[in-house]
Amino acid sequence: MDELSIQLAAKMIDDSEYLVALTGAGISRESNIPTFRGEDGLWRNYNAMELATPEAYANDPELVWEWYTWRHGLIRDCTPNPAHMTIAKWEKDGVLKHLITQNVDDLHYRAGSRKLTHVHGDIFGLKCTRCGYKSRLNEPSEDIPECPECYANLRPDVVWFGESLDAQVMNTVYDQLERADTIIVIGTSGIVQPAASFPLVVKNQGGSMIEINVERTALSNMADMLVSGKAGEVLPLIDQHLL
Ligand code: APR
Repeated sequence: MDELSIQLAAKMIDDSEYLVALTGAGISRESNIPTFRGEDGLWRNYNAMELATPEAYANDPELVWEWYTWRHGLIRDCTPNPAHMTIAKWEKDGVLKHLITQNVDDLHYRAGSRKLTHVHGDIFGLKCTRCGYKSRLNEPSEDIPECPECYANLRPDVVWFGESLDAQVMNTVYDQLERADTIIVIGTSGIVQPAASFPLVVKNQGGSMIEINVERTALSNMADMLVSGKAGEVLPLIDQHLL
């Protein structure tokens, strides 16, 4: 990570009038939550992409639920890292206007972020696979919870591969993106749509993009400023350079 890119990113943030952030699994990596792609994305030789689908849950609900129980336990044992804390501080200071996260963990919320949209849902949320019933998991459950209204299996209230994003959530996201003159993209591989196209909305209206990642991604070519490094180290450093 080089000092100049930190300073330049801080200047872009200082100069911005409406900054939004987009985060992915990489921001929670330093809190010990595995990412989806690469070695991290494997659980008992299953690929996350094979488990996070409606078909997988219909075919083998026990296996998929077991994966979620494992992730529920993991997330509960984790705490927000300095990257989550810096993002929450920027909201409090008025520097950051809105945060869009692809993460289904609650670490941004626990760090204090409130102007926050979870585009892929909430891992502790539950919804019925048959009727419209929704609730929230209070404590990890090894057994698949049952709908109290229609007795079908409940499922995590997250967006699985092949499913569309909630329309109301998308309205909020596009409303925020249209206002933005700068977007800071942190810890996402930029592969999963539509989230991967959010930075393009800001770029297409003349805005700028800052990217923070440990490696180059599918989005790096359109970044105006690339800061290479761990989110939990880079964000506090940028914060120190803000005026
Ligand atoms: N700091 C910054 N970036 C990091 C760090 C770190 N400490 N560690 C890893 N990264 C980066 C990786 O280089 C990679 O680009 O985080 C990114 C993680 O990518 P993915 O695992 O693909 O996660 P994400 O982009 O959030 O995935 C999008 O895919 O499976 C679905 O719904 C799931 O929301 C998820 C979506």
